[in-house]
Amino acid sequence: MKINGKTKITGIFGYPIEHTLSPAMHNAAFQALGLNYCYVPFLVHPDFLDKAVQSVKALNLTGVNITVPHKEKVIPLLDHMNDEALFIGAVNTIVNNEGKLTGYNTDGRGFMESLAENGISSEGKDILIIGAGGSARAVGYSLCQRANSLSIQGRTSEKAKRLVQDLCRIKNNSSPIEDLADLSRFQIIIHATPLGLREQDPMPIKAESLREGQIVYDLVYRETMLQKEASKRQCIVLNGLGMLLWQGALAFELWTGRKPDREIMRRALNIASSEPQGILP
Ligand SMILES: NC(=O)c1ccc[n+]([C@@H]2O[C@H](COP(=O)([O-])OP(=O)(O)OC[C@H]3O[C@@H](n4cnc5c(N)ncnc54)[C@H](OP(=O)(O)O)[C@@H]3O)[C@@H](O)[C@H]2O)c1
Repeated sequence: MKINGKTKITGIFGYPIEHTLSPAMHNAAFQALGLNYCYVPFLVHPDFLDKAVQSVKALNLTGVNITVPHKEKVIPLLDHMNDEALFIGAVNTIVNNEGKLTGYNTDGRGFMESLAENGISSEGKDILIIGAGGSARAVGYSLCQRANSLSIQGRTSEKAKRLVQDLCRIKNNSSPIEDLADLSRFQIIIHATPLGLREQDPMPIKAESLREGQIVYDLVYRETMLQKEASKRQCIVLNGLGMLLWQGALAFELWTGRKPDREIMRRALNIASSEPQGILP
């Protein structure tokens, strides 16, 4: 990659940031299209988030991704919010349009693209989402219009109920669920908590409750016990790398107006994630 006076800068704000996989896939995609862009990781301490966001304007960055723990706190610092990001209540992509910053959330659409590329349709399905945080909101927003029913289980039941209320404003087919003993009625089970990121984490559900043919989509990028147990039980298992790829491809399009080569991004992601430290967005 050749940096010169015309290079456009993009990147990612997070804390921590050193495990990010995103620079590998974006820089590979810029290079493949011969675009004079680069993507840089920025370690942004929560105390400096406001200054970091101002710097997007001050340094004329083209845009940035936003990751943990800034996805919600960044909202009041922006000039505009896209409707989807406003509903979700979290931003993962900022676009700088001549000094005006707009917040987007590409996680939900990224998730849907990754389902589609695996030949999976959510149309008319009974779907369980475990977790009620930012990614559950993004995925729920994209799924609720197509699913037959959407059940949301959250550790903090008020959060799950709030998400259900919000989703029911779009389509009245969501409900909270607390007991995960019987999962047989769900065709798709989505795991949207951080459980499994660490080796010693407990399983989010009992492995025995899974049945052959169920789709288990674990948003965690690394291989987890949930994924291993679901595979053993002949479930169709997807991990978070697909969603990571597609949310990145959509952000890339927002910044450049060009469609990236997804296979080049996927190859870069696979290489980066096979390195021992690669587990965060
Ligand atoms: N593949 C991708 O592109 C992608 C994109 C975004 C996120 N992710 C992954 O998705 C996961 C969730 O991310 P997020 O952004 O939604 O996080 P978040 O907004 O912090 O929400 C996390 C959710 O998990 C619950 N939770 C946290 N620790 C838990 C535990 N020990 N036991 C049970 N529930 C627990 C939280 O419950 P409380 O409300 O009670 O705290 C909350 O409902 C992470 O693993 C993240 O890496 C992947």
